[in-house]
Amino acid sequence: MAAAAAAVVAAGRPPPPPPRRSSAAARAGASHSLSSPLFLVPRRNVIASMLSSLVFAPIARHEIAIADASSFGFREYIDNFDGYTFLYPKSWIQVRGAGADIFFRDPYVLDENLSVDISSPSSSNYRSVEDLGTPEAAAEKVLKQYLTEFMSTRLGVRRESNILSTSSRVADDGKVYYQVEVNIKSYASNNELAVMPQDRVQRLEWNRRYLSVLGVENKRLYELRLQSPEDVFREEEKDLREVMDSFRVVKAID
Ligand SMILES: *[C@@H]1O[C@H](CO)[C@@H](O)[C@H](O)[C@H]1NC(C)=O
Repeated sequence: MAAAAAAVVAAGRPPPPPPRRSSAAARAGASHSLSSPLFLVPRRNVIASMLSSLVFAPIARHEIAIADASSFGFREYIDNFDGYTFLYPKSWIQVRGAGADIFFRDPYVLDENLSVDISSPSSSNYRSVEDLGTPEAAAEKVLKQYLTEFMSTRLGVRRESNILSTSSRVADDGKVYYQVEVNIKSYASNNELAVMPQDRVQRLEWNRRYLSVLGVENKRLYELRLQSPEDVFREEEKDLREVMDSFRVVKAID
């Protein structure tokens, strides 16, 4: 992971620690709260009502206001040793030990995050992302990978997935990148063992957007992946697309 080599280029100090949210507000941002009436309130409104409440001290109010700025503001993450760079929302925090080469998540929405994965150097000999086939063929592989990762052993869980778009573009570095966008919904039955079918009600557990940008350099395949609850994605779409568009693979220093 070359952590020591990875440099976060940022103006100023690291972001302030996320302010504490009430658990109701925290749940409002999470996808498993779909049955909660708070789900109907857009996240920014929840934050706005938190702002106006007297529960928060002035300092916390200030921090929330920064995080709630309508455009994120970005930091650039540069890893010259593993060979990639991208912009990420500056309020997001790095999580170590999450299994990826690098991992950041939103401080409020626990299931909104992004990560970079790289194919192992010994087993890869990629020349271009086109080695994966067409963008459509690559999308099928990416979706299969997602579904394998999210496989559930719980009884009564059903996943519904849709490839929303696949595309290929040549970025300003002259390299080809593929982008794949997928929606996955998870339904769970709360009483799978019920004898009567009408008692086995399936309800929506989560509804998420997954975006992957794929690129090849240093003979390796790189994937920047963003995962977000659908409702949050729609709210922050412009900024999140900027993150995906910023991903570049670069010659690694060895
Ligand atoms: C990242 O988000 C996904 C869903 O969007 C969630 O399942 C996963 O637990 C999150 N990972 C971490 C380490 O927070």
